[in-house]
Amino acid sequence: MKFCEARQLVQVKAPVFSRQRRVLANAFNVEEYRQAARKVLPAGIFDYLDGGSEDEVTLRRNRAVFDSWGLMPSWGPVSGPDTSTTLLGKSSALPLTLTPTGATRLFHPEGELAVARAAQQAGIPYGLAGLSTVSMESIAEQYPALDRWFNFGLTSDSKARDDKLERCLAAGYDTLIVGVDTRALGSRERDLHNGFTAPPALTLSTMLDIARRPAWWANFLRAEGISFPNLEPDNPKSAVVTPSMWQQILGHSDASSGWNELEALRQAWPGKIVLKGCVNPDDVARAAHIGLDAVQLSNHGGRQLDHMLSPMDVLQESRQRVGDSIEIYVDSGIRRGSDILKALALGADACSIGRAYLYGLVAAGSPGVSRIISVFSDELRRTMTLVGVSNISELKNRGPEVIRDVRYAAKKLDGIAPGIACP
Ligand SMILES: Cc1cc2nc3c(=O)[nH]c(=O)nc-3n(C[C@H](O)[C@H](O)[C@H](O)COP(=O)(O)O)c2cc1C
Repeated sequence: MKFCEARQLVQVKAPVFSRQRRVLANAFNVEEYRQAARKVLPAGIFDYLDGGSEDEVTLRRNRAVFDSWGLMPSWGPVSGPDTSTTLLGKSSALPLTLTPTGATRLFHPEGELAVARAAQQAGIPYGLAGLSTVSMESIAEQYPALDRWFNFGLTSDSKARDDKLERCLAAGYDTLIVGVDTRALGSRERDLHNGFTAPPALTLSTMLDIARRPAWWANFLRAEGISFPNLEPDNPKSAVVTPSMWQQILGHSDASSGWNELEALRQAWPGKIVLKGCVNPDDVARAAHIGLDAVQLSNHGGRQLDHMLSPMDVLQESRQRVGDSIEIYVDSGIRRGSDILKALALGADACSIGRAYLYGLVAAGSPGVSRIISVFSDELRRTMTLVGVSNISELKNRGPEVIRDVRYAAKKLDGIAPGIACP
């Protein structure tokens, strides 16, 4: 056989020299983007992104819990499928939001701007962190069509609250996400072992790291220093951050705020409010009772209270308690389109991702975030087709038909847990 004939039988691929393009061509799921991110970031920064608190029981549980639900397809025609839905009265291309993650410029020099661009292109909401490294105004100016949510810190200081609310309104943010799971900072022991600070303090091990991850360090040192421009200018924490300030900044929450402050916020804010970070159905019911618009069941991705329940453990009970009076979102451990389908089948209106989009950002910048969103979109569409549902409202209506608690089923078959009541 001649060489020119052989060439027609094999596909010759030109080598790809850009790391970003190589990742986009070769990573097909969230875990593969995670592995790519691990190769880019200094070890301490990767651990800060990826790790959980204490023994990381909740971190592991957040993934394991999805395996305890199996899917039950039914045979019949499927059209579409159509993944679009309505969240807080606005249309969204997917039942998916990008949830707040602070200090994003640590991971990529473009930080939150790169995430906002991808969310606007995809037509899904993005919740900007209070501790974002790009100001809420810059995001609004550059991405006016983005469905912009803002991560609001509760405070008992009503003047500070009203000033911040005015700022949110002026910048066109109509939804507040109020986090309630950081009354103290979770003990992230990987960070303690790594001596993690941001920016990284120069030690012998960071010097070695520079040798191993020169591209990240070159970008980091070229970019402006990390600061938190959503904080008020007179707040010392809004200046460029030094390593010694880092732990103080992370532990920013006001543990004295509670339901009174939340009710006052409800009175003061004309837009939507999402309560984020609870898993207790009593809290969900109370949020509905005081007129909040949604609850995001979350354990902060296993970064705060170790051994805390996972949102999937309490989703059905939460939905039963509030009926359709309030929207329910789920975050912590969402890595596959099938996870979204399972959550919606059990009563959620949408899922939220944190680390998954950060892995895409680290590995391939804004196109990496876009790719992560399309991975979820493709996987959700494929799973809906294979399960046999054509659109999101059909999925929510027929939820109990398409999902089974396989953990219970396995135990029942083995006769291991005869005492558990059959659902
Ligand atoms: C690096 C990082 C920073 C985060 N920063 C915030 C934050 O500023 N505010 C907040 O409410 N949640 C924050 N979270 C928690 C996320 O909003 C979300 O609850 C969590 O990441 C969901 O779990 P997942 O990462 O498994 O998707 C952060 C999470 C990560 C990984």
